[in-house]
Amino acid sequence: MADTVTDALRPFALDLTNIRKVFFARQQAVEAISNVSLRIQEGEVVAVLGPSGCGKSTLLRILAGLDTDFTGTLDWGHVDGSTDKERLRSATVFQSDSTFPWLDARKNVLMGLSGLTLDRKTAAARADTYLNLVGLGAFQKSYPHELSGGMRQRVAIARALATEPLLLLMDEPLAALDSQTRLVMQQELLRIWAKTRSTVVYITHDIGEALTLADRIVVMTARPGRIKAIETVPFGADRNVIALRGEPEFGRLEVALWQLLADEVGQTLQQQELAS
Ligand SMILES: Nc1ncnc2c1ncn2[C@@H]1O[C@H](COP(=O)(O)OP(=O)(O)OP(=O)(O)O)[C@@H](O)[C@H]1O
Ligand SMILES: [Mg+2]
Repeated sequence: MADTVTDALRPFALDLTNIRKVFFARQQAVEAISNVSLRIQEGEVVAVLGPSGCGKSTLLRILAGLDTDFTGTLDWGHVDGSTDKERLRSATVFQSDSTFPWLDARKNVLMGLSGLTLDRKTAAARADTYLNLVGLGAFQKSYPHELSGGMRQRVAIARALATEPLLLLMDEPLAALDSQTRLVMQQELLRIWAKTRSTVVYITHDIGEALTLADRIVVMTARPGRIKAIETVPFGADRNVIALRGEPEFGRLEVALWQLLADEVGQTLQQQELAS
């Protein structure tokens, strides 16, 4: 979690300047995101809110290095004081189910660790730790088809967290979970991030979730997605997901964010009506 007092002095994790992405499909150009500039500090949790189709997943794929066909610049910060400005070691949780169906839950997590130089014992301990942490300790041997959608998504979350990445990219990771498990997972994510101090970009449609987890919230416009507003979240590092909801400031920010989003959601619905 970021400490707002020292924010200005902290090194940045990544710096986005004028990111723009145009898709070409059926001889038509679709501008997905436009003019996105944002500097993200090391250890900061940035949530991204925006209407459906505004380019959130597109942006995340660019940050993950999965899409290099864009304009603008992505500048990586210095890691641990080194002069190495290569991209940060990242892990991504995708919006849709991304488990490997032919591997059980434990092997799914171990697969995520295969790119790291961990000895077998450490990798096994990591897999156990993170599967327990997402509440799937008893399902290590289960295959994805034997798990519910929410459980599969938790396997994908465990796989990403187990790599203990410097940059964690999450695309609506808790959307498939029931609301009680979601609250438990939010508390767990807060606890893990306080420990690992990962930099996190977290896409969600849930305003309350953004307020619960983030240091800053980026609100995007209807497509082409631009940054409409950036809200700093005033809650400290030691957050309780339930107690937070009783805070007057939580309610005030929830309304303010909804007001920022409402026009964009309306515009998106109009765009979709025109296209149909
Ligand atoms: N591979 C592609 N080819 C063509 N157009 C695409 C492709 N991927 C995304 N788009 C378009 O880019 C726009 C942004 O899509 P994106 O998936 O980034 O939206 P999103 O904000 O993640 O939406 P949601 O909240 O529904 O997940 C949409 O208009 C979509 O149709
Ligand atoms: Mg998406």
